[in-house]
Amino acid sequence: MDEKLLKKKFIESYGDGGDIREYFSPGRVNLIGEHTDYNGGHVFPCALTLGTYGIMRKRDDSTMNFSSANVRLGQVITVDLNDVSYKQEYNWANYPLGIVWAMKEKGIELDSGFDMMIWGNIPNGSGLSSSASIEVLMGKMLQDIYKIKSLSMLDLALIGQYSENNFNGCNCGIMDQFAVAMGKKDNAMFLDTSNLSYQYAPINLPDEKIVIINSKVKHSLVDSAYNERREQCASALADLQTKLDIKTLGDLDIDTFEANKDLIKSEIVKKRAKHAVYENQRTIEAVDALKKNDVERFGQLMNESHISLRDDYEVSCDEIDILVELAWNTKGVIGSRITGGGFGGCTVSIVKNDAVSKLKEYVEEEYLVKTGLRPEVYIVDIGDGAKRIG
Ligand code: GLA
Repeated sequence: MDEKLLKKKFIESYGDGGDIREYFSPGRVNLIGEHTDYNGGHVFPCALTLGTYGIMRKRDDSTMNFSSANVRLGQVITVDLNDVSYKQEYNWANYPLGIVWAMKEKGIELDSGFDMMIWGNIPNGSGLSSSASIEVLMGKMLQDIYKIKSLSMLDLALIGQYSENNFNGCNCGIMDQFAVAMGKKDNAMFLDTSNLSYQYAPINLPDEKIVIINSKVKHSLVDSAYNERREQCASALADLQTKLDIKTLGDLDIDTFEANKDLIKSEIVKKRAKHAVYENQRTIEAVDALKKNDVERFGQLMNESHISLRDDYEVSCDEIDILVELAWNTKGVIGSRITGGGFGGCTVSIVKNDAVSKLKEYVEEEYLVKTGLRPEVYIVDIGDGAKRIG
């Protein structure tokens, strides 16, 4: 399967004719700033050229047809526009359906149904935001085809997050949907999640590549452990607010945190808060280092980020730690860390051009020996946010 075949499959499945439109929505990788987005902190993600392709055509009746060439080609999930609710049996289609639901919640009602088909090349369960990619893709398709002029790309990101929180039940922050909607070729985005202000930062690294390595591990605890981390951060904030006038952990600099951290009653919760505060400051410093072309410093901060996620936030796992250590042991690797929500998924590394193939060979061999798993290594290009392509 590839994106060119998708239109053919769409026509085979739903018939030809009418206004058939094609779209693309990327996945994302976060360079630094992990588990800061629901703490009012900063993040620094970029959109990938890997992503989800989507095709849609409006219908005259109230039927919504969903199909995915990744799941089972030819299988169509049908939902009536007048009966939109989460159902287990809808499986992956609960993600695009959630966008129809979320738009309705915001007062935007579609006047008819549609046929849609998607196909994506983001590796499954890899922590590169395949669900946010589908959510924003769906938002973009509806916005364009139903001419919903009032919705900006930022609105589509917020609708995606709203849907994921309230329809799909994962209490995620805004980073993924923001990166997927607002991405810009060859740029990362420095987003302040306390007020959604952002700047594009050109990633101009002629001597280095961004390398993503997929551990092929997806821990089943991911949603519950994620929601638990959020609750721990909220509890740390409540303890700190007994004395400090702050709205989020992102309001704290390191000195203020260190001077007041004993207000936090539980030792585990204190470690979680420490990560959130230090990671936010690291992210600010990392973006500054990049502006000054100090890639080495950026890499050191990535390494520190990993150690903090491993030891204080405890969202890494043995396999990911092995991948990161293999990278740290390779000459020419500037920095390496876990990326995304955690408990498996991928690492991201900045690697000197001439060390990329050495790292790939080394990791492919050693990781297999140590874990019995075959890692996948991708050399990444930074792409645009969700858009119409045909
Ligand atoms: C997941 C969530 C994001 C963010 C990251 C961790 O990807 O969807 O909102 O919290 O984890 O940085």
